[in-house]
Amino acid sequence: MKLIITKDYEEMSKTAAVIIAETVKTKPNCVLGFATGGTPIGTYKELIRYYKEEKLDFSLVKTFNLDEYFGLGMDLSKPYDKDQSYARFMQEELFDHINISKDNINIPYGLAKQPEKFCIDYENKIKKAGGIDLQLLGIGGNGHIAFNEPGSSLASRTRLQPLTKKTLKDNYESFFKKAGFNKEDMPCSALTMGVGTILEARHLLMLVSGKSKALTIKEAIEGCITSKITASAIQLHPGKVTVILDDDAASELSWSLDLV
Ligand code: GLP
Repeated sequence: MKLIITKDYEEMSKTAAVIIAETVKTKPNCVLGFATGGTPIGTYKELIRYYKEEKLDFSLVKTFNLDEYFGLGMDLSKPYDKDQSYARFMQEELFDHINISKDNINIPYGLAKQPEKFCIDYENKIKKAGGIDLQLLGIGGNGHIAFNEPGSSLASRTRLQPLTKKTLKDNYESFFKKAGFNKEDMPCSALTMGVGTILEARHLLMLVSGKSKALTIKEAIEGCITSKITASAIQLHPGKVTVILDDDAASELSWSLDLV
């Protein structure tokens, strides 16, 4: 595992964008796994800058998003509403601003009538694309990756997952409340890639920012591997894992230097 400690959110975002841009330059038809939440927004801004100012070409890139609220979603071929789906988030924060082909974007469809079948198909689609080259990850306040809540099997696959009270509270505060939604309007389950699915990506790139995540990430990377903190499963990854933290997020770690 490579840890990179950066001075602030901006440097964390730029460092992550360099790694993603290099992946795209080296393999123009790479498969990228994307994440949502406040943490990757700066990285997406920087990728948009790469596209606009440095002509980074996304035309052959395929993407798979980690998760989506069950009950929310959008058809990417139609104009979208101001909902709080992760599909809308990705359009607004990244996809609308780069030259990615709509046909190459994959996001779990939160309005799927047969969620179980959808999840099996999603897994098959990832396999058919040749697997994920680089998977971007954040970490939830309870240590989850994607929506793999505490207790999720570390071998789990894409599925419908109920959300814990902690996640509902955190995500209500950071997104739904600001958009004028009531608590009752927030979906209480989600379609999510499993921990096992995520671990199959060839490179995991985790971003962590802020004091509020400092103890959680310490437990995830220095503590025991446990389904209580599903992010700790990244310790099981046999290949490349890069964790980029800002100084606040790194404040509880035992290390203060870059480690390879
Ligand atoms: C959600 C997403 C996770 C993300 C987490 C943290 O729960 N499902 O993939 O890592 O939010 O979000 P933030 O970056 O806003 O702290």
